[in-house]
Amino acid sequence: MSLKIAVLTGGGDCPGLNGAIKWVTKTALDPRLAARRAVAFDVVGIMDGWKGLVEIDPDNPTSRDRYLRKLDEETVRTWDRYGGTNLGTSRTNPFNPKNDRSERLIQNIEKLQVDVIVAIGGEDTLGVAYRLHKMGIKTVGIPKTIDNDLAGTEYSLGFDTAVNVIMEEIDRLRTTAGSHSRIFVVETMGRHAGWLALNGGECSGAFIILIPEHPFDIEHLCSLLQEREGREIRYSIVVVSEGAKPSGMKEFTKDVKIDDFGHQSLGGIARYVADEIEKRTGFETRYLILSHLQRGGTPSAHDRLMARRFGIAAVDMIVNEDFGRMASLVRGEITSIPLKEVVTRGLKVVDVDKCYDTERYNGRRSIL
Ligand code: F6P
Repeated sequence: MSLKIAVLTGGGDCPGLNGAIKWVTKTALDPRLAARRAVAFDVVGIMDGWKGLVEIDPDNPTSRDRYLRKLDEETVRTWDRYGGTNLGTSRTNPFNPKNDRSERLIQNIEKLQVDVIVAIGGEDTLGVAYRLHKMGIKTVGIPKTIDNDLAGTEYSLGFDTAVNVIMEEIDRLRTTAGSHSRIFVVETMGRHAGWLALNGGECSGAFIILIPEHPFDIEHLCSLLQEREGREIRYSIVVVSEGAKPSGMKEFTKDVKIDDFGHQSLGGIARYVADEIEKRTGFETRYLILSHLQRGGTPSAHDRLMARRFGIAAVDMIVNEDFGRMASLVRGEITSIPLKEVVTRGLKVVDVDKCYDTERYNGRRSIL
């Protein structure tokens, strides 16, 4: 028996995606493993996520060239070293109620004779995989999002690299902040989850970390900075998550556009915080929005390893006919959980009681 696996990446890109594609391909096509399996595989990459599977015209060779990539061991050999996704990505939702293209998607899956889809993505991309699974189409998932907020897994691809970017940039900022005795407010991504800000801020020794899970009081924030002034410290780093909000206020949004999955872009809080600090304390303050730099660059060692493990696990799931599941990390071990749990449990946000100090506005100083 031979099965055709289609791999796609959806949602925001991040380092680790190419590694996951590589290891799905290598594991599926591994000649030693193939000899022991009752099934052989073909692997094809779909360009641009769900958009590719919706837009492709399987009867048109030009369209097939545009949206399909044959994947073999030679093609993917070096992919794990590179960030982004060589298969492209999109935020297309074929089940968008305002423009439902799911019928075409299903027809295309049939016409392309795809037997199983490996969807590498976050909540939205995997939500589509789950809906297809419920309709009888075989799907498995691999978790990715720099926000690390997917339910059912302790790790999502891209998070470690993004935290490293935050740390490196803050290390750089410290020299100029120190020379000028300035406060720097650094805005991270993360949407409604504070993991990036919290981990990035903790590992770079930020003085203040503001997360979406705990609305902050601007007066209290300023008094923390003022208390510090008498000490021999010439500057402070304040890390703020894009989804953080002052008590009684809403999240800051960049524009009014809503994407296919109903999300609005967050951002702009760093400027507000910097302006308020300067106005209320008189301390010279600058801000920096790290933005998409956090999703750029080459994957860290951890992201390469996790991409490899999740990619291998995805093929194991296919071999074991464990469809409708996502590779996941639970208590430090690779396993898999139903896609249903990923999409219905809600996002995994920071547990303030466990991880956050609501007085210091920083990570907790008691762990056990
Ligand atoms: O979900 C990943 C993420 O990077 C968020 O942290 C951020 O809010 C969003 O994507 C940005 O999306 P876009 O690339 O569409 O601007």
